[in-house]
Amino acid sequence: MWDEKYDGAEYIYGTEPNTFLHDNFTAMPLGKVLCLAEGEGRNAVFLARQGYKVTAVDSSIIGLKKAEKLADENDCTIEIVHADLEDFDPGLKKWDGIVSIFCHIPLHIRKKLHKKIVHALKTNGVFLLEAYTAAQLAHGTGGPPTEDLMMSAELLREELNGLEFKQLQELERDVIEGSYHSGRGAVVQAIGRLG
Ligand SMILES: C[S@@+](CC[C@H](N)C(=O)[O-])C[C@H]1O[C@@H](n2cnc3c(N)ncnc32)[C@H](O)[C@@H]1O
Repeated sequence: MWDEKYDGAEYIYGTEPNTFLHDNFTAMPLGKVLCLAEGEGRNAVFLARQGYKVTAVDSSIIGLKKAEKLADENDCTIEIVHADLEDFDPGLKKWDGIVSIFCHIPLHIRKKLHKKIVHALKTNGVFLLEAYTAAQLAHGTGGPPTEDLMMSAELLREELNGLEFKQLQELERDVIEGSYHSGRGAVVQAIGRLG
């Protein structure tokens, strides 16, 4: 499904980073960052240009190839990993930062992944997330079509047990990111640190 969406010259979420990431990336210590469900690479490339050593994982090989191309065009390098997040092993105490931007995957996979994420961060490592909440279904400006793929602050607090949250909030904002995210959106934003 995602390969088909990405199969064209257009970067469907644009080539600029997600706004929440752009405004908050310095919360992550400089070092190794893992970008989950990174798609066409806009966030990974932005972080690589800020000096992070970035690995981008996604199940769409077409998206990842476009991510590599975007990195080339921006004179930086990223590592790409073609994997399904259901089986993906992020390792232990490995990352200074983990980034999850609109990583809408089924609940049972997400719960397992979030448990692994807490253990995959180094001490003082930071997890940074933005995703749509169920309220987004009323907006029709992008995001998944069903509630089971959405997140909330309450769910994230449970799933990411072990992190200290510097920020965890639900809000509405204008999400103008490529042709697929195109207006007022209902999102949850999280910045959590492993102490
Ligand atoms: C809404 S896009 C977000 C892409 C990117 N994070 C961004 O903000 O531009 C969702 C991404 O999740 C990826 N994805 C969905 N299910 C996945 C899975 N089970 N394993 C790995 N990636 C997955 C898709 O390929 C797609 O690139």
